[in-house]
Amino acid sequence: MTVAPTPLGLALVGARGTGKSTVGRWIARAVSLPFIDADAALEAHYGRTIRAIFEDDGEPTFRDLEERTIASITAGPPVILATGGGVILREANRSALRRFGKVVWLRASPETLNRRLRADTRRSATRPALTSLGTLGEIEAVLQARTPLYRDLADWIVDTDAISPEEVAQVVLRTVARDWPVPLSLR
Ligand code: S3P
Repeated sequence: MTVAPTPLGLALVGARGTGKSTVGRWIARAVSLPFIDADAALEAHYGRTIRAIFEDDGEPTFRDLEERTIASITAGPPVILATGGGVILREANRSALRRFGKVVWLRASPETLNRRLRADTRRSATRPALTSLGTLGEIEAVLQARTPLYRDLADWIVDTDAISPEEVAQVVLRTVARDWPVPLSLR
């Protein structure tokens, strides 16, 4: 499918393990827009891993750096943006993302997220724990707290439980083309 670039950006939000970065890369390729992973941009800019920031300075410091990163990316030209799972926690981020463009919430059940996070051994070694509840307990607690925020921010919601990241990207592209009907040539 060919979809032309948009004048606004497209941000992907959702919990860890919903495939935001993989899906974002597919979409960016399809619409010929640059792709930015906010967590990777933060780590590159500050020269530190997210895990090290959590361990050395704590989560509030990470959230401050995340807020600055989101402010800076969303003030720039349109891109396809994959955000960290907790980006929706701060109102400053939510309003920056609303100004930036459209927001897609990639949703998955706790069981799916648990399965994906356990399978992703490379990233689980570098992913800071957010609670002391263990993988499934943390997923359930975090989802319960964040679901209303994701829902409130999202322009579109895509369920990722039963489909691959490539299929999720196709669903997002079809949804954008259907519900955001600015003539493609003007985007
Ligand atoms: C976080 C999710 C991570 C990263 C940080 C905090 C969260 O991003 O921003 O470890 O609070 O859910 P991913 O969702 O890309 O793993």
